[in-house]
This record gives sequence, structure tokens and C-alpha cells, in this order.
Amino acid sequence: MPYRPGPTSGASALIKELSWDSEFFSRKIGKLFRVPKDGAAIDRLLRHAAEDGYSYLTCRTALAGTAKLRLLQSRGFYVTDIGATWERLTEKQPRAAFQVRDGSADDASSVWSMARGLFRTGRFYNDPFFTKKEAGLLYQTWVRNSLGDRGLKTFIVDKGGFITCRQVSKSKGEIQLIGVTPLAQGKGVGRSLVYHSMSWFRKNGVEAVDVRTQVNNLQAMNFYSKAGFRIVSTDVTMGMILGRQRRRAEIRD
Ligand SMILES: CC(C)(COP(=O)(O)OP(=O)(O)OC[C@H]1O[C@@H](n2cnc3c(N)ncnc32)[C@H](O)[C@@H]1OP(=O)(O)O)[C@@H](O)C(=O)NCCC(=O)NCCS
Repeated sequence: MPYRPGPTSGASALIKELSWDSEFFSRKIGKLFRVPKDGAAIDRLLRHAAEDGYSYLTCRTALAGTAKLRLLQSRGFYVTDIGATWERLTEKQPRAAFQVRDGSADDASSVWSMARGLFRTGRFYNDPFFTKKEAGLLYQTWVRNSLGDRGLKTFIVDKGGFITCRQVSKSKGEIQLIGVTPLAQGKGVGRSLVYHSMSWFRKNGVEAVDVRTQVNNLQAMNFYSKAGFRIVSTDVTMGMILGRQRRRAEIRD
């Protein structure tokens, strides 16, 4: 049955529905943006969330906040990914070795096929709430949608890879996704995409660029380190399955 947004009540003060995710996965998905201080309050919140029709909640918190993590775990939340946020200043960049060009709506099918199966370390692949097929389609859809999103800039190396960038504020930028096809990896395509986007950011007045990656993605961790980024923070993303979906996910896991 297709997902239909419904009214919310008790849980809405601390939970924000992720409408795009709900629509995409056809299940109501929310983000817990502040963790209550004690277990009983979390239990109440989870009951309200289930009554409001939520199937799944996600929550991201600092890796250093171990007391909060233990509390969430004790109420049934589980770890879906551990992330590192990297930062680099946009000082003058070397020239990209590969030709990098602007992406446009005409690149929809090419980025769709380049992104297939690339992001297996991503959190959606490692969460029993989502099937592997859903996770794969999510990343492909994400990259394809970036092409039509005015708030994002996508750059492409033909038959090589893509990068999506967002100017977050006057002086801050963010790399959202970078992907290089398996055949083109290890040849400098990724480095060219990063150099090119850093120059683009710089031209737009951006002074520093952030990117978040999973710490189990050693390829990406080494890549950003080599590209001159440094880690500025670490975090944990947790998931919680509610209601009837819970049993289905247990079987899948
Ligand atoms: C991470 C990724 C973008 C790197 O792109 P790439 O074109 O393969 O990387 P490059 O050839 O430009 O490599 C640049 C540097 O990164 C490091 N690096 C790249 N691949 C590496 C690997 N498999 N192991 C260790 N270091 C690696 C190296 O230091 C390399 O420099 P060197 O060749 O001088 O040693 C690419 O492997 C990829 O798309 N992976 C899957 C998707 C993904 O995980 N994206 C990142 C999360 S958003």
C-alpha cells in the first residue's frame, strides 16, 4: 500500500518526520532530534511514535556521548553507522588530471548506472529495517535527484564518477556524495572531482568544506586524508524499528 502522510500527536515535539524518506520507503520514518534524559521518557516517546504510525526512528549523536549511547541502546536502539566528519580549507587547488564537467538533467541515466552498488558501507545497507535492494535504489535516486536540485551542484567525469556539492552558508560548503565506478577507481578520478569542486567552492566564496563518511569505509577515510582533509568530529547514527515492522526486520537480519 502506498505511504500516505498522516496526522501526528504526542511524539511530534521531539521527532521530526523525514518526509522524503517516508515517501521513498513507503513507511513513516522520523528523526529523534533530542534524546530524553531518562529511559522512562524514551519509552513513552517510543509508544507515542508507534501510535503516530512511525515504523522507524533514526537518531544521530556525538560518539563521545557514551552515556547517551548506552541509554539509547538500553531502550532498543541499535548502531547503524559510525561517522567521521572531515574538513578542509579551500586554498588554491592543483589542476584536476581528469576532465571534470558540470552535471545536468541529461546525465540522469549515466549517474544512475555509475551509482549502482557503490555505497555498500552506507548506513542504509547496514540496517535491517531496509532491504539491500531499497538501500541500493536510495543511493541511486539520491544522486539522480541531485541533478535537478537547485541547491546542489553535481560534477562529472565521464565514465568515471560524480560528486555532489552544496553551499551550506556564505563561507561553508559540503560534499554530499562522491562515487567512482569500480573500473575507474584508484586512477585519480576521485582526486580530480575533489580538486574541481574545491575550486568551485572557492570561487563562490566558500572557505571551508565538510564531508562525512562512515569510519568503516577505509577507502574513503584514506582518500580524504590523502586529499588534505582532517577529522573534526565523530558521531554515531542509531536506528529503532517500531510496531509490526520489527518482526520483519528481525527475520531479515
Ligand atoms: C572513495 C573513492 C571516491 C576514491 O576515488 P578514487 O578515484 O578511487 O581515488 P583516487 O584514485 O583519486 O585516489 C586518491 C588517493 O586516495 C587514497 N585511496 C584511494 N583508494 C584507496 C583504497 N582503496 N585504499 C586506500 N587508499 C585509497 C590513496 O591515498 C590515493 O592516493 P595515491 O593513489 O596517491 O595513493 C572511490 O573509491 C569510491 O567511489 N568508493 C565507493 C563510494 C564511496 O565510498 N564514496 C565515499 C563516500 S560518500
